[in-house]
Amino acid sequence: MISNDNVPWCEKYRANCFADVQGQEFAVDKVKLFLKSFPKTKAIALHGPPGVGKTSLAYAIAFEMDAEILELNSSDFRNKAKIAEIVGPASRQKSLFRKNKIILVDEVDGISAIKDRGGLGELLVLLEKSAFPIIITANDIWNRKFNLLRRKAELVQLKEVDYKVVLRILREVCEKENCVVSSEVLTSIAIRVRGDIRAALNDLQLLSKMDSPELLREVGERNKEQSIFSALQYVFKNAKIDGDMIKVYDEVNMPIDEVFLWVEENIPVEYKGVELVRALDALSLADVFRGRIRRQRHWRFMVYEYFLLGAGVASAKKYNRTGWTNYRKPSRILKIWLQNQRAAKKKTICQKYAKRCHISTKTAMKDFMLLKIILGKREIREELNLDNDEISYLDK
Ligand SMILES: Nc1ncnc2c1ncn2[C@@H]1O[C@H](COP(=O)(O)OP(=O)(O)OP(=O)(O)O)[C@@H](O)[C@H]1O
Ligand SMILES: [Mg+2]
Repeated sequence: MISNDNVPWCEKYRANCFADVQGQEFAVDKVKLFLKSFPKTKAIALHGPPGVGKTSLAYAIAFEMDAEILELNSSDFRNKAKIAEIVGPASRQKSLFRKNKIILVDEVDGISAIKDRGGLGELLVLLEKSAFPIIITANDIWNRKFNLLRRKAELVQLKEVDYKVVLRILREVCEKENCVVSSEVLTSIAIRVRGDIRAALNDLQLLSKMDSPELLREVGERNKEQSIFSALQYVFKNAKIDGDMIKVYDEVNMPIDEVFLWVEENIPVEYKGVELVRALDALSLADVFRGRIRRQRHWRFMVYEYFLLGAGVASAKKYNRTGWTNYRKPSRILKIWLQNQRAAKKKTICQKYAKRCHISTKTAMKDFMLLKIILGKREIREELNLDNDEISYLDK
């Protein structure tokens, strides 16, 4: 038994009922309608980014219906007998002790679509025949392999939770845990996690354990993001070019190339139409100077680049605007990272193959196109002991 101190707060304070799942009113309403319409629609697919309440909402449904929850994972779907048992005649009877039963297929993303070994096929069978409402959760329901599934289930998107809601949840937890964390830190956590409440609770728990020098360092890191955040807020919301606008990035403790990525990422978030075109113009001009700074070491041009990224982008609009925008972290770097991750999978596959065939990994990598064909065979995959990640890489 883990001691109370070690229970992750995201477990301890897990949302249990509809009212606990905050900031997702739209999804909760859709779920209620779905439950009323069952069995006309057999399944509902809750999809969205991590930590926004998909699994919690599924459990909340069970709680509100006083239902028993039957959770199935991807490997259960490879077990035909088990599925047959669930859809078979015996299952049509209601559960003995509880009135209701619901089936939860959590994190369906991992399910494999390979023919006769895949599981996805069995899930579709279940969707046809189930006597109980089915709840599916997924991060990326738009994956091609879910084409059929999307037609058979009602789709409900859970959005990134608004930072104010995240902040409110953090405050509640602080109160219950009797921990004192400054408002700035809480706000900076709430903004940084971009709607992922699990991440917010984890961050808070971690910070609450730190001593003050460590905390300061950590908060310094976070302030860095907060400062680019407020700079962007200033640039995108104000139309007037004044002294503050010229100095807008002075306090942002970040290399100019990174500032560039942040601006680039968020222009389309804030601007549309003519404003978008004008802002992109400023950005491309900034990029020209960036190139000259790099190639000709003309540091003086940095002033121009900063000016274009600030005043230039700001003047794309005529009037000040109000409202809150959830600015995004540059995703390009993330994409590069993902690309590297994928390349890593290719490498491990080649390593396994190379070892078995007594060739070098490099040779295997070179012949990867050919290898892919060979590795299409199930027996060979089994022989090489490829794991699920590697298999799904091959099937992409
Ligand atoms: N909308 C919300 N309101 C209150 N708490 C939430 C909400 N969303 C998530 N949480 C909390 O965050 C944690 C993680 O939530 P949950 O497991 O439901 O996320 P998820 O959407 O299923 O994420 P994943 O895609 O990673 O499975 C839990 O502690 C949960 O209570
Ligand atoms: Mg989940």
